[in-house]
Amino acid sequence: MRISVIGCGYLGAVHAACMAELGHDVVGLDVDEAKVRKLSQGVAPFHEPGLPELLARHVASGRLRFTTDPTQIADAQIHFIGVGTPQLQGRLGADMTYVHQAVDTILEHAVAPQDGRPVLVAGKSTVPVGTAEGIAARLAESGRDIILAWNPEFLREGYAVGDTLTPDRIVYGLCEDRAVGNRAKELLDECYATQLAADTPLILANYPTAELVKVAANSFLATKISFINAMAELCDATGGDVTRLAEAIGHDDRIGRKFLQAGIGFGGGCLPKDIRAFMARAGELGVDEALTFLREVDTINLRRRDHAVNLAEEAVGGRLVGKKIAVLGITFKPDTDDLRDSPALDIAGRLWARGAELAIVDPAASHTLRERRPDLNVPETVEEAVTGADVVMLLTPWREYVRLDPSSLISLVNSPNVIDGRNVLDPHEWADAGWTYYGMGRGVSAW
Ligand code: UDX
Repeated sequence: MRISVIGCGYLGAVHAACMAELGHDVVGLDVDEAKVRKLSQGVAPFHEPGLPELLARHVASGRLRFTTDPTQIADAQIHFIGVGTPQLQGRLGADMTYVHQAVDTILEHAVAPQDGRPVLVAGKSTVPVGTAEGIAARLAESGRDIILAWNPEFLREGYAVGDTLTPDRIVYGLCEDRAVGNRAKELLDECYATQLAADTPLILANYPTAELVKVAANSFLATKISFINAMAELCDATGGDVTRLAEAIGHDDRIGRKFLQAGIGFGGGCLPKDIRAFMARAGELGVDEALTFLREVDTINLRRRDHAVNLAEEAVGGRLVGKKIAVLGITFKPDTDDLRDSPALDIAGRLWARGAELAIVDPAASHTLRERRPDLNVPETVEEAVTGADVVMLLTPWREYVRLDPSSLISLVNSPNVIDGRNVLDPHEWADAGWTYYGMGRGVSAW
């Protein structure tokens, strides 16, 4: 099929490359010339395992193109909208400007195919519920045979290629008019034929349900993380160990073990912004009480960052002025170079504001950090960063940091204090090597 993907950021670039991998003829459209230039050379503009290989292969084969020229999308049968919906400046809601611009572009340039089938607009961006109805109405007003489906994505950074090629489920949000909905379904079925043949669960729903699925899933995940972080606060107050607690409750498969990792909390381009936009939308719909619990989820999450800073102060026995802190990991999670709403970056900023001298290392984001903050000390190696440190803080659980050897590092530091912001180190191993270990809701317990 001929496909266009409008918006080649994280979601769009991965989606475009994966659609080419499924055998489609894909053109990706973006306004950012530098990004388009890189993608056109088969180079990923951000760190995502597996993406460079797909880009290189399909750009070379000619099945995948990127452009800033909107006329190039004219003959696509399906136009996927993958533009960003960032948080509005100073407000909780989402900025829908780019979604509406994408619809304008499609209406201006799409040309109906000759085969009697419609042009399909497939929304993938995370949007406030009700957006799809509005877009469908605009498409209908145009009087042309252009119809809409809402087809949310659930990709995780670091696993985006796998999540797109072999998703847990596919959701089609379709028009309540079944005849129109079926025409859209037919085109999406053809697009996702490989995955449907592999028995990927397919959920058919109306537009609002499909829009809600995405924000509901992210709200649930955020709630799960804040729940376990609230339990970490209880563990800190009582001497309990939240990692044991999570393991024990996680064996109940109604609860499940995943997303019960207590620590400095969630960040990234999705979870924080999505729960805030969801609350804002609930307010507009007059059902804000249904989501007041998400305010608490957000508050618990942000409190983790204060807690990490307080722990650093505790470790140095008071004021941070002039104390050297080695920060290991600055991205919002491992296997990405994404710094959006990163708890690690926020904590580092607060430590710096309190006068600490920072040495920050990260396997993927050092370069960006040096560019953005030339005043910061961003050494090449962990050894350089921890040399002379009063506190070592592990804030992003990159594999190489989880595996660090406490015995060899201890000779480099000024004071052997380690704050395990993600509860991924073995407290006994570090304590036995001579370190004072600070976990997030866990200490060094006999059990
Ligand atoms: C998330 C959703 O998982 C994905 O389904 C959706 O499509 C987009 O948003 P992503 O933002 O890539 O994906 O990150 P995710 O792996 O969900 O992690 C989010 C944050 O939560 C990270 O900062 C991570 O460190 C933190 N986290 C995750 C925890 O603190 N504890 C956990 O147990 C799990």
